[in-house]
Amino acid sequence: MPKLIIEGNRCLRGEINLQGAKNSILPILAAAILCEGESVIHNCPRLSDVDTTIKILNYLGCKVKFEGSDLTIDARNVDRDEIPGEFMRKMRSSIIFLGALVSRLGSAKFSLPGGCELGPRPIDMHFSGMRQLGLTLKEKHGVIECNVGRGLVGCNIALSFPSVGATENLILAAVKAKGTTTITNAAREPEIQDLAKYLNSCGAKIRGAGEGTIYIDGVEKLTGTEHTVIPDRIVAITYMAAAAATSGELQLNNVNVGHLSSVIPIFEESGGIIDFPNKNSLIIRAPSRLISTKIIRTMPYPGFPTDAQAPIMAMLCTADGTSVIVENIFESRYKHVGELLRLGADISVEGRTAVIEGVKRLSGAEVKAADLRGAAALVIAGLCAEGVTKISGLSHIDRGYDDIEGNLCKIGAYIKRI
Ligand code: UD1
Repeated sequence: MPKLIIEGNRCLRGEINLQGAKNSILPILAAAILCEGESVIHNCPRLSDVDTTIKILNYLGCKVKFEGSDLTIDARNVDRDEIPGEFMRKMRSSIIFLGALVSRLGSAKFSLPGGCELGPRPIDMHFSGMRQLGLTLKEKHGVIECNVGRGLVGCNIALSFPSVGATENLILAAVKAKGTTTITNAAREPEIQDLAKYLNSCGAKIRGAGEGTIYIDGVEKLTGTEHTVIPDRIVAITYMAAAAATSGELQLNNVNVGHLSSVIPIFEESGGIIDFPNKNSLIIRAPSRLISTKIIRTMPYPGFPTDAQAPIMAMLCTADGTSVIVENIFESRYKHVGELLRLGADISVEGRTAVIEGVKRLSGAEVKAADLRGAAALVIAGLCAEGVTKISGLSHIDRGYDDIEGNLCKIGAYIKRI
């Protein structure tokens, strides 16, 4: 079983060029099948989730070329409307192909993605919005069969929660529907704006992405385009937390500072100093000891992101004082806590609230990652712990971090994969 071996307690110093955003590239790749032409996507990270998505695209009939960080998708010959169960199981976000397939081919077949490492993850909002647009969904032997009948027709969809995936799926389904679709209480994440930017450059007519109400005027046809994926804000937070936890100093390049507005105050409150040497870079300088922060509550964007909860918790394990985190987005997102305790952290969890009592130091141990951001938290904890930390469950980290060992070694970490 592959493991990351970290010799901790080293101060991280240097520069990292940030990768493109996982949560942008995945929906954009699904959107590429709407185009009767070729799309070239720049700044594409090397991730196992991207590999799985490429396999889905190939299966559906696309030709895909991945060179450096440029991904070319020729979607002229998309002719299959089915997502095999193995892909749905591997990557829950494959559900995004539902909207894309019904838009392109008028039908889709897939098995239910089920729960995941973050607890139950219903997709009821995706389905009810699709039904409003005119999609028929039938379940047979665990497979959902969807058909647009005479075509999708624009309508007003009010989401009961600003779900990122449901907003994206409904945009994809509505982009070629007849008339105008309005999505209210839409998610406002930057990745949604990125998806809309890509689609608009292919000929779609989407207004309001990034705001609570999104308007989509259906168009007949989309063509291919060139697009550069936004920087990954969660990976940025992960590296910043690693630098902060090790009393380090890090310059991050290719950052969108505006996307980090809910987390920069947390780094500052814990004692870090943040500078912006230019529009696309950020420097964090950490003190020799961090201090605890006020209550952190995860919220939909522009609030504090749930994906940053685990990395920030790892950083706060050795901050002087008591920090409190409330997880409001997912029911079961504290699986990393048990492993942080093995490293000597003092954390108690009650329901959605975690209380972190800062300890003097963490000490290396063997731990196992149970989900993507939990894995990142264990890496951060290992980097500041005394002694050696061995992390297994690496398939999780490879879903979202492009060469995490290489990047961390470049700034002074001792970390290798065996
Ligand atoms: C996306 C991100 C994930 C991030 C999450 C929240 C991608 C590929 N993944 O996931 O990294 O943690 O946003 O920012 O972009 N819900 C329902 N019914 C639905 C849909 C969602 O009840 O039909 C609930 C979920 O169970 C969860 C909450 O809504 O409690 C938020 O989920 P959602 O925003 O949909 O997350 P994802 O799109 O799956």
